Amino acid sequence: MLRFSGILLFVFFSLFSKTFAQQNRLCGQDELHRLHPEWQQLQKERKAFNEFATQFQATEQTANIIKIPVVVHIMHLPSEAYGVQSNITDEQIRSQIEVLNEDFGKVFGTRGYNVNPVGENTEIEFCLATRDPSGNPTTGINRVPYAGSSNFQLSQDRNMKDLSRWPVNRYLNIWVVKSIQSGILGYAYLPEVMASDPERSFVDGVVMGAFYFGSRDKQLLGQNFYLSNTFAYGRTATHEVGHFLNLKHTWGDGGCEIDDDVDDTPLCSGQYFGCPPSPSRPFQCGFNRMVENYMDYSDDACFNIFTLGQKTRMRAALQFYPFRASLVSLANVAATGCADSGGSISFADTIVKISGDSQVIRVGRNTEEVFRIRILNQLRVGFNNEEVRWQVISQPFGAGLVFDTLVRTSGGGFATMNVGLANFPGRYVFRASANTLRTPNFVDFRIEAMAATNAYPNPFKDEIVLAIELPNINPVQLRVTDLQGKVVMDFTTEAKEAVVLNMAGYPDNFYLVTVISPQLIDYFKIIKITP
Ligand code: ARG
Ligand code: ZN
Ligand code: CA
Repeated sequence: MLRFSGILLFVFFSLFSKTFAQQNRLCGQDELHRLHPEWQQLQKERKAFNEFATQFQATEQTANIIKIPVVVHIMHLPSEAYGVQSNITDEQIRSQIEVLNEDFGKVFGTRGYNVNPVGENTEIEFCLATRDPSGNPTTGINRVPYAGSSNFQLSQDRNMKDLSRWPVNRYLNIWVVKSIQSGILGYAYLPEVMASDPERSFVDGVVMGAFYFGSRDKQLLGQNFYLSNTFAYGRTATHEVGHFLNLKHTWGDGGCEIDDDVDDTPLCSGQYFGCPPSPSRPFQCGFNRMVENYMDYSDDACFNIFTLGQKTRMRAALQFYPFRASLVSLANVAATGCADSGGSISFADTIVKISGDSQVIRVGRNTEEVFRIRILNQLRVGFNNEEVRWQVISQPFGAGLVFDTLVRTSGGGFATMNVGLANFPGRYVFRASANTLRTPNFVDFRIEAMAATNAYPNPFKDEIVLAIELPNINPVQLRVTDLQGKVVMDFTTEAKEAVVLNMAGYPDNFYLVTVISPQLIDYFKIIKITP
């Protein structure tokens, strides 16, 4: 019991609900910690980290996304089948990952967005693992029948985790039980208190009550999320993951004299429950309390801030503690199948879509025969061995593209379709449908295929050759206008490959050539210069 108490009771004091904090205070346990040798060690670790974080602040480069692979263990009551109470659905689980990404990413148009001058996008992303510890495909969701799931006892922390843990230095383990004792919504350990704990590798991670895991916002018609009314937007997990990344409560678990070791979170005193205006925003320690901070105790509905200082502290923790650094190493992110998840919108030779904007490409004889379209599901956590149906639902006259095909995605995240657009310019609309896309459960993807027309030499003196690489387009109207918009040439040609324009006698100028066919209009600029 005493061995356990050194670290764990401190954690109770710092992270758990008011019941625990108050009990600890009343019985003077925190005094006892100070006398305990582990407390001394803890102070050293803390000091070393704070020094690192300060220097980190000065040197850290911006705009680099850190990805954290996640496994979710659903420790459900054995009597509850899939979708019943503690055995929450995949959709509810994914809705939580989505919220983590919105909150840590300060995503515009979500509850996680804010306009506070110190409110930051942490550039930390979460990915449900698509590879298990042995490298096999996985959904990142692990369902385990567990009799102790209801009114889960903290004394069972280690035992419960022993049933299902994945290596804690490779995955953020999130255990979801039906409910936790003493009204606790969730809990986690600060890396700084774990660093010197011999138990660390057995208990590291986040534990959540199922009733607080996921977001009501993401529940679709016909779905039935098991969720509280007040703590309904997935912010408990955001708060606990904040602890997992070494953030303390904004009130420092004390009064005005105790800081949370973050400069841009205002000092405040004691716990705050609810949301302003009821109760109103307190003025404490000379400041308006930042009740929107995820590390306060306010209701889910009013959270939306991680500050720059908190961002720095979290990212510092991800470097400073070896067991956090291993989690986010590129090798581990790849090994857990998270390399492809989230974020980036386009690559050189591919298109990544999460919505239906159009994309302009050029087609013609020099164009890549095969064009790749890649989409992420709207959760942006990647597809996992799911079927995605690809169809071409509209195309230019004559293109004759035919397909309607089901493609099973691997665990890699993207659903990819290769299409040959041949030499038919015009508007193509592709549709991808999958059951993990939200309502509507499809994404339309428009490609505006432009003629790959070229002109050379450009600039030119008298003659310029227009290479019209469109064997399927005939005839083509060519119109040349000058800078003032005056048409200087206008003719139709049957030429399949090249047209020679003789512009001797025309003044030196920029000209615009317009290529007009029933399927497209294309423009390009030519420059006439007499040396
Ligand atoms: N560990 C805290 C508790 O159990 C989490 C509070 C999170 N707050 C929230 N609005 N979700 O009470
Ligand atoms: Zn907390
Ligand atoms: Ca502060």
